[in-house]
Amino acid sequence: MERLKIGVIGTGSISDLHLGAYQKNEHATILAVCDLNEQRAKEKAEKYGASRVYTDYRALLADPEIDAVSICTWNHSHAEISIAALNAGKHVLVEKPLSVTVEEAIRVEEAVEKTGRLLQVGFVRRYAANTRILKQFIDAGDLGEIYYAKASCLRRLGNPGGWFADKVRSGGGPVLDLGVHMIDICWYLMGCPKVKSVTGNTYHKLGNRANVQNLSFYRAADYDASKNTVEDLANALIRFDNGASLMVDVSFTLHAKQDEISVKLYGEKGGAEIEPELFLVSEKHNTILNMTPQVDNLKFDFVEAFESEIDHFVDCCLNGREPLSPVQHGVELMKMLCGIYESSEKGKEICFD
Ligand SMILES: NC(=O)c1ccc[n+]([C@@H]2O[C@H](COP(=O)([O-])OP(=O)(O)OC[C@H]3O[C@@H](n4cnc5c(N)ncnc54)[C@H](O)[C@@H]3O)[C@@H](O)[C@H]2O)c1
Repeated sequence: MERLKIGVIGTGSISDLHLGAYQKNEHATILAVCDLNEQRAKEKAEKYGASRVYTDYRALLADPEIDAVSICTWNHSHAEISIAALNAGKHVLVEKPLSVTVEEAIRVEEAVEKTGRLLQVGFVRRYAANTRILKQFIDAGDLGEIYYAKASCLRRLGNPGGWFADKVRSGGGPVLDLGVHMIDICWYLMGCPKVKSVTGNTYHKLGNRANVQNLSFYRAADYDASKNTVEDLANALIRFDNGASLMVDVSFTLHAKQDEISVKLYGEKGGAEIEPELFLVSEKHNTILNMTPQVDNLKFDFVEAFESEIDHFVDCCLNGREPLSPVQHGVELMKMLCGIYESSEKGKEICFD
């Protein structure tokens, strides 16, 4: 069978998950990598057996042998590189978020329509085993109509610094970095209803707290604490046109007792949790049941989820299938995420037609 020839653009932290998964996929070959930082690109090329190294993504895209690319660069370049890649005839797997503005996201959607190429947004949680299991229960109607979801991803000390904290390159803080995952997984499991309105609040109260000692936290590849122009906390209430609602809060830093992650869905017939681990709630014969699925891994498994995401992308490219996380979903997410910032700035609810 034909193998898909891959180029990976941006070879920082998350690229290892992409490169590792392509390397394991027997229908893909890693041909090229590209990074502004040549040394970093060369190291990754060596590690994963890429024969071509670029420092300008345009040169990689001009390489006629490359069929598809993973875009693992800073958020503000996702839309620009996606559009250029589609126009160069490549299929695209772009890391989340799709873009940093709704306008950009729409331009990517137009490029997908114009070129007929495939674009998959890296909503990796959709591809995780625990999500796939829960989706089967939801699709079979076990939860009934899901009318409420609630998600939290609160880091007490977790501003990664570097580009994550620089609004120009990231487009925003925990809303775009963590909120995108929390909102997407709820929205996807709720059946992707159309967003009706967003009310949000963002806070810049604590700064990046680089002063804190004796407690370690994740730092970006090029950590730099000197610049911090992003929010440290956000919350939001999102309404959908089917009457369902979603409440979410996310932080890079907060005076919380501990880090916290939870994703909960409530339906007419049952409920479910997907974070911190898969759990189901139901009622039968007038009795409430709390149910723990007996599966290998109830928790989100990062490596497994990326492998499943990449396998799906390769399969879609080679066999002309529609991705599970298409560009239209990336656009809808950008409406919700940007809606949170706009609502907070204007101090009022943002409504969509
Ligand atoms: N799906 C997930 O769970 C997940 C987790 C982490 C990061 N991400 C996303 O992955 C992306 C990268 O994050 P990261 O943590 O790997 O950051 P990183 O800083 O470790 O790596 C980004 C790399 O991209 C390179 N780069 C930036 N702009 C470039 C350009 N125009 N051309 C070529 N190279 C360029 C940088 O030099 C850097 O090496 C972000 O969009 C982030 O939101 C997703």
